[in-house]
Amino acid sequence: MTDLRIVVSTYAGLEQVLADEIRALGGRDIEIHTRAVSCTGDKGFMYKANFSLRTALKVMFNVSAFPVKDADSLYKGVYEIDWPSYFRGDQTFAVRCILSSDLFDNNLFPALKAKDAIADRFRKATGKRPDVSREEPDFEVQLFIFRNTCQVLINSSGASLHLRGYRTEVDKAPLSEVLAAGIILLSGWEPHIPLIDFMCGSGTIPIEAALIAGRIPPGTFRKRYAFEQWLDFDEALYQTIREKQLDKIVDQEARIYGNELNKWVYRKACENVESAGVEDMVRLSCGDFRDFDSGEKRGTIIINPPYGEKLALEEVESFYASIGERLKHGYSGFQAWILTGSPEGAAAIGLRPHRRIKVFNGPIECRLLGFELFKGKRNERFDTQAGTDTAG
Ligand SMILES: C[S@@+](CC[C@H](N)C(=O)[O-])C[C@H]1O[C@@H](n2cnc3c(N)ncnc32)[C@H](O)[C@@H]1O
Repeated sequence: MTDLRIVVSTYAGLEQVLADEIRALGGRDIEIHTRAVSCTGDKGFMYKANFSLRTALKVMFNVSAFPVKDADSLYKGVYEIDWPSYFRGDQTFAVRCILSSDLFDNNLFPALKAKDAIADRFRKATGKRPDVSREEPDFEVQLFIFRNTCQVLINSSGASLHLRGYRTEVDKAPLSEVLAAGIILLSGWEPHIPLIDFMCGSGTIPIEAALIAGRIPPGTFRKRYAFEQWLDFDEALYQTIREKQLDKIVDQEARIYGNELNKWVYRKACENVESAGVEDMVRLSCGDFRDFDSGEKRGTIIINPPYGEKLALEEVESFYASIGERLKHGYSGFQAWILTGSPEGAAAIGLRPHRRIKVFNGPIECRLLGFELFKGKRNERFDTQAGTDTAG
């Protein structure tokens, strides 16, 4: 099979964990970029990456890269690609552009030029122009214009891979499944360690942890990938890869706890846990985190407390201070990780983080703060992660 240069996008801050996942899956010549990792792999690897990568948002492959100096050279470079060999004239398409260059004032104009080039190329070859669909195109082309180079990529995933398919209905501010998986992987948590999210919302952190523990591929629940609509889709190859990945599922005994204050949200979490089929690993409860007791003596806590427009600043500070108090007095011997977009909240916790990692929750800059909760003496710590590495 022909090698492809594959580019996988992710959230800022998760590039290294994504690169590790890609290496473990068999990707070659891995390079880390901002919000993306590239590698070499064949068509089968592209299918596998879509099905199994936990921290990928979109899996794309590079069809062309050419120098660009103005709108005409952009049009010509895109027109030269043999588009009718990739998709049919009765399918819809869209072009998106990420611009990091002074050549154009905004990203809409180059996207429009590229769209015209693709449509013209089709009309010349087949006499028909394919329609554009912004919302749910069958075929999505992504341009990356960096200084004087244009890279043309094709999105093999379709809708973002954070839409796993197990979340039936969601709270207003659920955590992205990809970010949840990313912070669990960044925390260094291992399935034999009890894991607690005592403000779990719709249950994303406990569910993603259970998927990791059971080696359940995130694609298990997904209904559709863009590559299934392509002219060169190899269904037999895809089914073989899917089955091989599903064969890796293990019957893992894990003790993962989720707790949520809001009854309605708690019920959603229960539905989501059931829909992901991880009821054996995840135990949910409804109540205030200050009253929650898992009975575990050691473990890892990963939480994503509320912040931003949901709480006023004084409320944020007192709420985060109460989290700090609870961690200090109820969880000595545990490791705790707190994802927050509130610097004031982070300061109010009143504990010194041993790690501070910058990650983005969509457009919101957040910190993942790691704490080791000692029983007073340092040698009583529960150490699952060595070092005091600080990123971001
Ligand atoms: C940012 S959301 C967490 C989102 C979650 N990670 C998800 O995937 O949906 C914070 C959650 O904390 C819950 N919460 C707020 N105060 C709480 C308390 N005192 N005890 C337990 N949960 C609380 C909120 O109801 C909300 O669902």
